[in-house]
Amino acid sequence: MADLQTSYMGIKLANPLICGASGLMSDIDNIVSMEKNGAAAVVYKSLFEEQIELERLQLDEMTEEYTERHAEMITPFPHMEHAGPLEHLLKLKKVKQGVSIPVIASLNALSPQTWLEYARKIEETGVDAIELNLFYVPGDTGPDGAGIEKDQLDIVSSVAKSLSIPVSVKLSSFYSNPLNLISKMDREGIKGVVLFNRFFQPDIDTGSEEQAFPFRLSSPGYHRLPLRFTGMLYGKINADICSSSGVFYGNDMIKLILAGASCIQCVSTLYKNGIGHIGSMLEDLDRWMKKKGYKNLKEFRGKLSSGKLKDPFAYHRAQYVDLLMGGKPVIKEGFRP
Ligand SMILES: Cc1cc2nc3c(=O)[nH]c(=O)nc-3n(C[C@H](O)[C@H](O)[C@H](O)COP(=O)(O)O)c2cc1C
Repeated sequence: MADLQTSYMGIKLANPLICGASGLMSDIDNIVSMEKNGAAAVVYKSLFEEQIELERLQLDEMTEEYTERHAEMITPFPHMEHAGPLEHLLKLKKVKQGVSIPVIASLNALSPQTWLEYARKIEETGVDAIELNLFYVPGDTGPDGAGIEKDQLDIVSSVAKSLSIPVSVKLSSFYSNPLNLISKMDREGIKGVVLFNRFFQPDIDTGSEEQAFPFRLSSPGYHRLPLRFTGMLYGKINADICSSSGVFYGNDMIKLILAGASCIQCVSTLYKNGIGHIGSMLEDLDRWMKKKGYKNLKEFRGKLSSGKLKDPFAYHRAQYVDLLMGGKPVIKEGFRP
């Protein structure tokens, strides 16, 4: 095997494949299986403020209060995921003790006090790092973008400064300029940035004329959004880039590392192809590195990032240029989209 080692937030990883936060983490046997199949680290599912609030509020009141946000917690798992925060913290401890790969916790809070209070409690469980899941869906026309970003920046800054374990942020791509916000967060001391979270979108069932919440996973190809932003960020921030969304195959992982990722997170592919698929993704990476003569990841990480490309349009306006020139798509032999 080629040397697949990498480093994320100062933590050494045996390879760049991290299993991202998901319902699969509810079962510790799945986490053990992820480790056995070669995952370098896991992100335990998020602790949500709703779980914390639930100790104080009745479920109906809470559902009303938070309808427009946190679909990933409330809608797919209306009955399952309402474990209290204490139970969540105990499970984190158990997971940390049950595997030898790094365990990253995830937190999604609302108020600045809860962010800090629970980030500290999570740190006490002994996990290796914490991912701040900055999931936010605006519910009305009131708050402006600058205000939302400032609040998020303040939260990130206070958590990063208060904890001894490394802190990463997991963002959506729905900012006017994600690159600007990430570079500000970088200056506040984050050690990693996860590009990107994928929101569950509500749907409407036209038969019953009701809201529907289908359980939809990513599709192959979704990794092109994080690929673009990974390529544009590489070399411009101190934090490590962890690319996420639509990483299904070893070939996707290779592309993201070429763009500048230190590691990747995957979830949907594990639901669709099983946890055993981790092994084949790593084999693909190993095979490709051997074929190309790369001894380690450093030799090709960021090779195709924006800063290293001769063509300045490649990451920025590629499709527009192509349209303007009336170009036909050129598919090179062997290209795997
Ligand atoms: C069932 C399920 C539960 C999820 N729970 C969480 C969560 O607790 N915290 C979080 O940050 N992301 C959560 N996610 C999002 C994933 O971590 C990931 O960002 C998203 O699925 C995109 O990656 P993928 O394309 O590899 O699936 C969840 C995803 C799924 C499918």
